[in-house]
Amino acid sequence: MFSKPDKDFMQEFLQDNIFKIISEAADEQQQECYVIGGFVRDIFLKRPSKDIDVVVVGSGIALAEKVALKLGKKAKLTVFKNFGTAQVKLNDLEVEFVGARKESYQRDSRKPIVEDGTLEDDQNRRDFTINALAICLNKDRYGELVDPFGGIEDLKNFVIRTPLNPDITFSDDPLRMMRGIRFSAQLGFFIETNTFDAIVRNKERIEIISKERIADELNKIMASRKPSVGFILLEKTGLLELIFPEVLALKGAETKDGIGHKDNFYHTLAVLDGLCEMTDNLWLRWAALLHDIGKPRTKRFDSRLGWTFHNHNFIGEKMIPEIFRKMKLPTNEKMKYVQKMVSLHMRPIVLSEEEITDSAIRRLLFEAGDDIDDLMTLCEADITSKNPEKVKRFRSNFQLVRNKLKEIEEKDRVRNFQPPISGQEIMETFNLPASAIVGDIKMRIKDAILDGIIPNEYKAAHAYMLQIAKELGVTDKK
Ligand code: CTP
Repeated sequence: MFSKPDKDFMQEFLQDNIFKIISEAADEQQQECYVIGGFVRDIFLKRPSKDIDVVVVGSGIALAEKVALKLGKKAKLTVFKNFGTAQVKLNDLEVEFVGARKESYQRDSRKPIVEDGTLEDDQNRRDFTINALAICLNKDRYGELVDPFGGIEDLKNFVIRTPLNPDITFSDDPLRMMRGIRFSAQLGFFIETNTFDAIVRNKERIEIISKERIADELNKIMASRKPSVGFILLEKTGLLELIFPEVLALKGAETKDGIGHKDNFYHTLAVLDGLCEMTDNLWLRWAALLHDIGKPRTKRFDSRLGWTFHNHNFIGEKMIPEIFRKMKLPTNEKMKYVQKMVSLHMRPIVLSEEEITDSAIRRLLFEAGDDIDDLMTLCEADITSKNPEKVKRFRSNFQLVRNKLKEIEEKDRVRNFQPPISGQEIMETFNLPASAIVGDIKMRIKDAILDGIIPNEYKAAHAYMLQIAKELGVTDKK
């Protein structure tokens, strides 16, 4: 559970030497100065962060220079002249100094026109009341909280609300709609009704936000304790349709001839939440979100079989590169891992329903390789039936699959199996050019090992190669 705001905890924080030094420097320069934004919010939420934002009425750069001078060699100062900001790094702390600003926006851009302003101006331009809290660092007001919009009350009540008219806050910078939903998922807060309604009204403005920033927020939702909170809000506000239509397409449960199918959107979210209780692996979480992404495209109704989603795992696997490219997610080995998980996600469950043969287990180990444990975790999360008997049966069958996987891996070591005979060796042995027959011989050796016809050893594989070659009428050149 989230702790209530606590002023003693804040005082404890302010004992840190860095704040004392900023305070001294600000007084010497006669500058009004506050620690502000996410850092202050996180003090009250007891999730201390190492990124500190300091707002100065006047020049942020001048104060940063003074602070760096006081800290001496142990501090590193970086000045961003174009932005009028500066950063001081001290061990793992990063303090950003910025002059208080007043911002006004134009309709087609989230880049504001910036003017120097007061603390009030600066707080007015912030996204949420809980992010607009400021603590004064000047000596005579040290530790004084400036909370013009009831941010502390909102923290106490777990509420996300914009400081000003939400239509203005969101239209100015539409990324804030995603941020609000992300904070709701991350912190377990509610989005206050007016704020929520304004997201619905302004949703189309998300189009001016770069895909990278949207992906960044989605990743933060995915990394939260219960990502379904974020996805349900994205769906309810209408943002999901704009930023991730493939996930929205999972929504809905159709009935025909009295036969229904489950709503794959809510099923997917249940799988994702369940998986998040078992692992922090972000890409496995993506695999959970996308495991049934191929279902809408493969959905058919058959009067005999009812609803079917044949090959949805393979179609899903094929859809992923397009989705990752479009959403500016990494199209590297992380994506390949997600594809692999999606394509294999039904294998362990099918296995657990059939008689578990050594050969099927070897094939699964061969295809999943080192990702076998992740695949088993995903499959376990995929069991979302409401029928406790069914869940119990699946779980115990699953245990059998796990035991068998362990046993076969210890015996045959096929997890990262490379066939003991290479294509090169086949070509040299039979004086063959690179050709289909070489591939055929290689595949049959691999299959024989996976099917348990021969052991996973060079000598046996070599003898088997000679035997197949004979059958195929290929002669040994030696
Ligand atoms: N802010 C804003 N609108 C944005 C981004 C940021 O008003 N689109 C303001 C908020 O006051 C925020 C502060 O700038 O608290 C710092 O932003 P940032 O470091 O991006 O976010 P945090 O709130 O610190 O949270 P997180 O680090 O989790 O993103």
